[in-house]
Amino acid sequence: MKKIKVAVLGCSGLVGRQFVRLLDRHPYFEPSCLTASSRTAGKRFAEALNDPAGASLSAATSGRLIRESTVDAVAQSGAALAFSALPAALAAELESELRRAGIGVFSNAGAWRMAPDVPLLVPEVNPGHLELARRQQREHGAFIVTNPNCVVSGLVLALKPLMAFGLGAVTVTTFQAVSGGGRRGVSAWDIGGNVLPHISGEEEKVARETGKILGRLAGDHVESSGLEVYPSCSRVPVRVGHLMSVSAEMARPAAVEEVAAALAAFQGEPQRLRLPTAPRRPILVPDGSDRPQPLLDVDGGDPERARGMAVSVGRLRLQGRRIAFFLLVHNTVRGAAGGSVLNAELAAKKGLIPGAKHG
Ligand SMILES: NC(=O)c1ccc[n+]([C@@H]2O[C@H](COP(=O)([O-])OP(=O)(O)OC[C@H]3O[C@@H](n4cnc5c(N)ncnc54)[C@H](OP(=O)(O)O)[C@@H]3O)[C@@H](O)[C@H]2O)c1
Repeated sequence: MKKIKVAVLGCSGLVGRQFVRLLDRHPYFEPSCLTASSRTAGKRFAEALNDPAGASLSAATSGRLIRESTVDAVAQSGAALAFSALPAALAAELESELRRAGIGVFSNAGAWRMAPDVPLLVPEVNPGHLELARRQQREHGAFIVTNPNCVVSGLVLALKPLMAFGLGAVTVTTFQAVSGGGRRGVSAWDIGGNVLPHISGEEEKVARETGKILGRLAGDHVESSGLEVYPSCSRVPVRVGHLMSVSAEMARPAAVEEVAAALAAFQGEPQRLRLPTAPRRPILVPDGSDRPQPLLDVDGGDPERARGMAVSVGRLRLQGRRIAFFLLVHNTVRGAAGGSVLNAELAAKKGLIPGAKHG
């Protein structure tokens, strides 16, 4: 099969480098264009990365010259798709210009997530919302597909199977890694030996994005699920992996073992379609009363290509009518680049990507 040429926008960032790793030697896609800011443009990717992880990349990718993030750079490379890991403020304009130029966008940035005609997708949870991309394609010639905030990416995976128990109000308290703020995020001085009990805008995103993903497709938009979600977000001195303490009301009483079995057995469209980056089991329930832990569990997921794509759930317990547990998500893989690549694989399978032979 001829591979689809793709661009990675913001390739030198923490999410961008995960995109490059996942798209290098991908069975459907081939990176033909890597972009960053003017600070980095002109360097070869391996040189800009300055990371031992780059050693496993193909020579074509590690030697690729980084361009500035413009529509022309993407178009000239022949890319049909762009994976975006740009700051939201920049993404707003550039992503819509790319769509106008006929280039499909899979974005991690927050700019378009809540636009009515843009799917906010987690393929195991709301694959049907991809229909919105088909509508965009008819109207604009191309589409923008987004994936949610890193906390939401993990949270909705666990909430979806819990809906069978009559899911009520959800309370979530997060312990988020420093990598969630990007390469130039929180300073070492502020976070070392400390916890920051506020992440600007994060709690609002968790509530509204969860509502959209669990909501119902109603023609040209999604009706929010109306689920009550009460988040409290904090930043902790962990490199990678957002841990969260979740507590959810259940209308139908159930034993802990029944809930654990439902979580562990959960599978969705990516597993049925055997998408390349889909983890065999999207929710892992590791043994042990002290799990999940970022150091031990963040790379959960198999096969090899799906490492970091499974979330881990542990410490399940009943608190009256509520089920309580800890949940861990790899913020730059399932919560960002991996989620976006999985979206693109689903879109390819559903015939949304011209030239992809996987429809
Ligand atoms: N980190 C996470 O866990 C996570 C999770 C979900 C979603 N996201 C979202 O994903 C996006 C990327 O996040 P990140 O953590 O990878 O950020 P990051 O590490 O700060 O990387 C940002 C990337 O954007 C480029 N960039 C910055 N300013 C630019 C400009 N003016 N023109 C062109 N390129 C520019 C940077 O290039 P230079 O290296 O040249 O500066 C870099 O490649 C953000 O929208 C973020 O909200 C992040």
